[in-house]
Amino acid sequence: MRLASLSLLLAAAASLLLGVSADAVPADGAPESFPGDAFLQLLNKTPLPKFATKLILPAPSPTARRQLDLFRTAALARNLTSLLSPINAFHFPTFQKCELTKDENPVLPFTSPALEDYFTDIFTSIPKLTQRKLALSRFDLFHAHVFANTATRTAGVVFHSREYPAENDKTFPYNLGFCQVGSDEPFDDAVMRRRNLVWVMDSSTPGGSLYWIDMADKTGNADVDAVLQDGPFYTLYETDLGHVLADFYYLNGEPLGVSLY
Ligand SMILES: *[C@@H]1O[C@H](CO)[C@@H](O)[C@H](O)[C@H]1NC(C)=O
Repeated sequence: MRLASLSLLLAAAASLLLGVSADAVPADGAPESFPGDAFLQLLNKTPLPKFATKLILPAPSPTARRQLDLFRTAALARNLTSLLSPINAFHFPTFQKCELTKDENPVLPFTSPALEDYFTDIFTSIPKLTQRKLALSRFDLFHAHVFANTATRTAGVVFHSREYPAENDKTFPYNLGFCQVGSDEPFDDAVMRRRNLVWVMDSSTPGGSLYWIDMADKTGNADVDAVLQDGPFYTLYETDLGHVLADFYYLNGEPLGVSLY
């Protein structure tokens, strides 16, 4: 089971109990609040909070900039359909009984090569930008979650790396299911606490910015620290940051695949 799945399940159960749909847009158009609102606001501040390291991405091409504007608009409207190409849907690779995607549906590529290249380049750049602490692999970085945050008018993507550390009686006694089998990633707390990266684009960050998050570097402000989950999993939940729209999946040699919620 993917690490995020339990929280999604709990969120789904909570919304059933409360009798509201997680998809409900507030009728009056008022911004919804999310636990991560204060966290996202801090990413825009100078100096940056200590938990965030800005990673420098190449400037997007003019075409990519235009497509990213469309991506943000579509995300805030909670409908990415117009950006995707169902004709070219494909099945993301599986490994014996391990299915990396959130469901068995085929994933969809972006229609725009510029958009595909932009997000693919983020995946492929992360190992180098993190001094090779994180790697592209089915045990480490292969997926990300797209969210929209209305309070800050932000479209964002949470990249989860170190998804399946190897089970170890002493250091990581957790069975994470089929996808953990054969993991070559020993649990390392110093890396695990920095397993999340957040890409955000609001009206003041055209082209978007990428931050490497240290989950153990708490600020002391409870509103901000609400999203800085503790170890050993240190998961930054996309559901804390906004309305979740889609997952990205990427492995070397495959196109980037999008899976809508
Ligand atoms: C999403 O957008 C597509 C076209 O871009 C449209 O056909 C579809 O009805 C929209 N879905 C919702 C739920 O608004």
